[in-house]
Amino acid sequence: MQLRDILSTALATAPLAVSAAGTLGFAVGNTNPDGSCKVQSDFEADFAAIQSNTAAVVVRTYSSSDIFGNPCHTPSQVLPAAKSAGIKVLLGMWPDGGAYDKEKAAVDEADPTSFGDTLYGITIGSEGLYRGTYQVDDLLGWIKDMQNDYPKTPLGTADSWNCWHNGSMDSIITSGIQLALANGFAYWQYQDISNATKTYFDDMAAALGHIQDVSGSLDGLHFMNGETGWPGTGGSDAGAAKAGDDNMETYWKSAVCGLLDWGVDLFWFEAFDEPNKADAIGDDGQVASEKHWGSFDSTRKPKFNMRCS
Ligand SMILES: *[C@@H]1O[C@H](CO)[C@@H](O)[C@H](O)[C@H]1NC(C)=O
Ligand SMILES: *[C@@H]1O[C@H](CO)[C@@H](O)[C@H](O)[C@H]1NC(C)=O
Repeated sequence: MQLRDILSTALATAPLAVSAAGTLGFAVGNTNPDGSCKVQSDFEADFAAIQSNTAAVVVRTYSSSDIFGNPCHTPSQVLPAAKSAGIKVLLGMWPDGGAYDKEKAAVDEADPTSFGDTLYGITIGSEGLYRGTYQVDDLLGWIKDMQNDYPKTPLGTADSWNCWHNGSMDSIITSGIQLALANGFAYWQYQDISNATKTYFDDMAAALGHIQDVSGSLDGLHFMNGETGWPGTGGSDAGAAKAGDDNMETYWKSAVCGLLDWGVDLFWFEAFDEPNKADAIGDDGQVASEKHWGSFDSTRKPKFNMRCS
């Protein structure tokens, strides 16, 4: 009841054109715990764990060519695995640091459109505007290049909800992309778990409302929450936001199940713990562990029941 009330307040100014439950997706990394690139069989094991424990129908990847200097050829590995598992892939390109051409080559090499609707779409960039690793004009150029070569594939980009909301991405909203992925982490906003769901819904409503205003349509762009999550046990605290498997489960049940119930598609960050992942530096310069964000541990064991009903 309370959730509904919060949602209807938060989203009252941004009505959604959908009524069915939202679609659950997972963010998946493209390296194994030992740092090696995931190959098809690794992704198949990922998908088996996801499909037997959750209602997810789609996964998103981040980088197509290199991770830490390894040529992973991720699209060529993940698409066949997804096709045999019957799950869809939103393929990610990581164009930061001059990598666009290499990323594009790794996408092209996989011939992604030959996989039919296993290919959910392609995202160009993830939080690069928020992090300042590229500029809007760079992103527009890459989007245009991809639109030229992949005219029938849904294309999009992911960035922090506040970049979608504050006007800095308006030219992206009107660029002809189909998918708008707004990331939102109440954790990184230093929220106590008791206020986390409200913060998350407010973030999503703010991003969605601005996108609807600028696009002049309620559903001209497919709005998705590109990432949300909460660090589990072993992770770092961020102010009032306390890491822990119990809080992760609470956040899932309230925030994730709540937004899905409202009909918004979302990606949980992330499926599996990444013990090899480097620490992140927060806005305040504080070092934060990124190793414990999985709702499954690194051996693919679920940390809690991820069914919403
Ligand atoms: C929008 O928000 C982002 C992320 O916080 C920030 O870097 C950027 O300067 C903001 N832009 C405007 C126009 O306020
Ligand atoms: C709870 O979250 C909202 C954002 O949705 C924020 O405005 C408010 O200050 C938060 N409350 C506390 C006690 O931090």
